[in-house]
Amino acid sequence: MGRESLTITDNRTGKTYELPIEHGTIRAPELRQIKTGPDDFGLMTYDPAFLNTAACKSRVTFIDGDKGILRYRGYPIEQLAERSTYIETAYLLVKGELPKPSHLKAFIHNITHHTIIHENIKKFIDGFHYDAHPMGIMVGTVGALSTFYSDAKRIFDPESRRIQTHRLVAKMPTLAAFAYRHSIGMPYAYPDNELSYTGNFLNMLFKMTELKYKPNPVLERAIDVLFILHADHEQNCSTNTVRSVGSSHVDPFSAVAAACATQYGPLHGGANEAAIRMLMEIGSVEKIPDYIKRVKAGEVRLQGFGHRIYKNYDPRAKIIKKVAEQVFEVTGRSPLLDVALELERIALADDYFISHRLYPNVDFYSGIIYQAMGFPMDMFPVLFAIPRTAGWLAQWSEMLLDEDQKIARPRQIYLGPGERDYVPVAERSE
Ligand code: ACO
Repeated sequence: MGRESLTITDNRTGKTYELPIEHGTIRAPELRQIKTGPDDFGLMTYDPAFLNTAACKSRVTFIDGDKGILRYRGYPIEQLAERSTYIETAYLLVKGELPKPSHLKAFIHNITHHTIIHENIKKFIDGFHYDAHPMGIMVGTVGALSTFYSDAKRIFDPESRRIQTHRLVAKMPTLAAFAYRHSIGMPYAYPDNELSYTGNFLNMLFKMTELKYKPNPVLERAIDVLFILHADHEQNCSTNTVRSVGSSHVDPFSAVAAACATQYGPLHGGANEAAIRMLMEIGSVEKIPDYIKRVKAGEVRLQGFGHRIYKNYDPRAKIIKKVAEQVFEVTGRSPLLDVALELERIALADDYFISHRLYPNVDFYSGIIYQAMGFPMDMFPVLFAIPRTAGWLAQWSEMLLDEDQKIARPRQIYLGPGERDYVPVAERSE
């Protein structure tokens, strides 16, 4: 085994540099010493979309995309989905360890007693147009919460961070359910403290005139498992955003609102909607071969397939497939499931998908489940943002306490015009 370092020769100058390697990385600022002369700024790396740049050290989530492994704080996602609850998983993410029984009880109590939103936030939601997209409502109202909790600015006070974490995890389902009820013109249903986190969410979404809403236990557990699967996913677009916006030392409500905005984007939170639309377009099993031909010809992409990190079966997709079967026993089988299963079977045996290492991702089956449970497609990104809040907050506090971190500020390669003199408008030719 040689030295843990990298030797670089700059062919422009013939000089050689030795850079230390730590955790399989070199520090990009080390490259600045590589210069052609005293006026040279020094070498930088060019990495749009961060394809090969680690922006932080993290102890929250581990992914091995080649092997299809996902772990939160070291615990395999399969074990958490099988044996934990979303609230316990949220605790694990934000605190770093599984809770002792008394700590879990206290955490559940704290979350349950922060679910109500200020009545003025309700009026704020009322002000949105009747057909406002619920994710747009989320972006606005989560951001607005920062104006209700001025103590949230004290981001270096651990007690303040603890309270804002309770508030955000607790209020996301309330905001989401109110956004949904607003869009269908239904009166808001207030939280029921006797129900579980996901049971109460179903209550706030679907309660009609009954005095006490009783969630179906299978659907309640299915949502809980889906929430566990979506609780964190290391440095994805929204997490990178929460860290980047949070690096300005803004309050967590504003940083989480920015993260929600990324999930409003079709490439991040909208992929399961795209997958459902694709399955509806295909319509029946006989039409799959034709669709596969179009994918291979590069005309369309197979939605819900492929992943920047996973070059193996997304471990979340395996679990979701099982959840789908349980949900359909309650809701009735969606005809789209047969199309999805056959599409997967054909794709996984096809050279194009094998050679491109394209496997189903988390979005391939989640949309079918949400649709069967009665959620409109507009709600899909919202259903992603609620559980991801725990991950965002875990990553946000890790970033704040990391001494290596500063305000996020990438460099650029400037390719615009050189210096030129301003010409008054009257002197410019048409
Ligand atoms: N269907 C067909 N071909 C695909 C697909 C797909 N779903 N995904 C990638 N490919 C092909 C590309 O055409 C490309 O082929 P080429 O090398 O022959 O040109 C190759 O695989 C690599 O594709 P990239 O777009 O460079 O891969 P990248 O890692 O940037 O993209 C992404 C990942 C965006 C997820 C892509 O696989 C995709 O568009 N999938 C469909 C949308 C989707 O399901 N998104 C959800 C992602 S999960 C999430 O964000 C929560």
